[in-house]
Amino acid sequence: MIRIDAKDGSYLQLLEYGAAIQKLVIPDRDGRHLDVVLGYDTVSDYQQYDGYFGAVIGRCANRIRNASFILGGKQIQLIANEGKNSLHGGMHSFDAKIWSVSRSDQSVCFQLCSPDGEAGYPGNLEFSVRYTFNNSHQLIIEYEAVSDQDTLLNPTNHAYFNLSGHQYNRLDGHLVEVLAETVLENDEETLPTGKQIPVSSTVYDFRTPAALAAGLVQPHSNMLACKGYDHNYCLNGSGFRRIGSAASEISGISMQIFSSMPGLQLYTGNNITPRRGKDGIEYHQYSGVCFETQYFPDAIHHPQFLQPILTAGKRFYSRTEYHFSPL
Ligand code: BGC
Repeated sequence: MIRIDAKDGSYLQLLEYGAAIQKLVIPDRDGRHLDVVLGYDTVSDYQQYDGYFGAVIGRCANRIRNASFILGGKQIQLIANEGKNSLHGGMHSFDAKIWSVSRSDQSVCFQLCSPDGEAGYPGNLEFSVRYTFNNSHQLIIEYEAVSDQDTLLNPTNHAYFNLSGHQYNRLDGHLVEVLAETVLENDEETLPTGKQIPVSSTVYDFRTPAALAAGLVQPHSNMLACKGYDHNYCLNGSGFRRIGSAASEISGISMQIFSSMPGLQLYTGNNITPRRGKDGIEYHQYSGVCFETQYFPDAIHHPQFLQPILTAGKRFYSRTEYHFSPL
């Protein structure tokens, strides 16, 4: 367990297991400190439960259809872990590894080496993720990698936020903003059909801050199979930029989101089964919400999407930031 403290008693607590965010403690509008992410007290709980709580996801976030793809003319077969498909790196994925750690003042760097062929992915991959948490309550996540063969890479972090405090364990009172004109349509297996749904006049429209729970109460027809929001937003713009925000009207904690990635998976914890989390709190469906910055899911099968291909010898770098402040 590693902790980065800010001057006012706020802190970020991380685990070598999964390079996961275990706690993120931020002041509410009255200066009381609240832990705004879901998590568990022990590593064995992280091993026992599904859901990738707070973990780094790799090599590829989200689903790859049939756990296979063609890269450089070669057919690559991954180890499927969700029916025929690969989810969040498949077997031997980054969330279940013990990472090497080095730390400096306000930062912690986790590293691992993923060998050629691991989970089916080509190339020896040197991978690191650096978390920085500063006195302005900014959480900065930087991913860096290099591979000795062309490969696929699409890392993200799977923190479930509850800005009312994790013990509140419901999403009412959350306002969400996502700067995107379209969202990808899902098929029955939560894989993109390739079609983009314009958000205008739908419950996907978060171009200005809107209540997240409204869409859970009156879901769009494309939300029925996946039981809530589990959709990739096609974010406006490119390069490192502000991509949205979230806030709790209950705690008065607000979070601005910035990223260099083209997509954002908005996932409302639809598949969280009842379980005991930190401090004995009972988590369940819709206890938290993930803002997973990423290349679009299954992009390798959709040539019109930006491709998550890492060329041999080229440095991969991406950055996502969550900035906390009072509403
Ligand atoms: C996916 C969900 C999946 C969940 C696993 C999310 O990133 O989009 O479909 O059930 O991860 O916890």
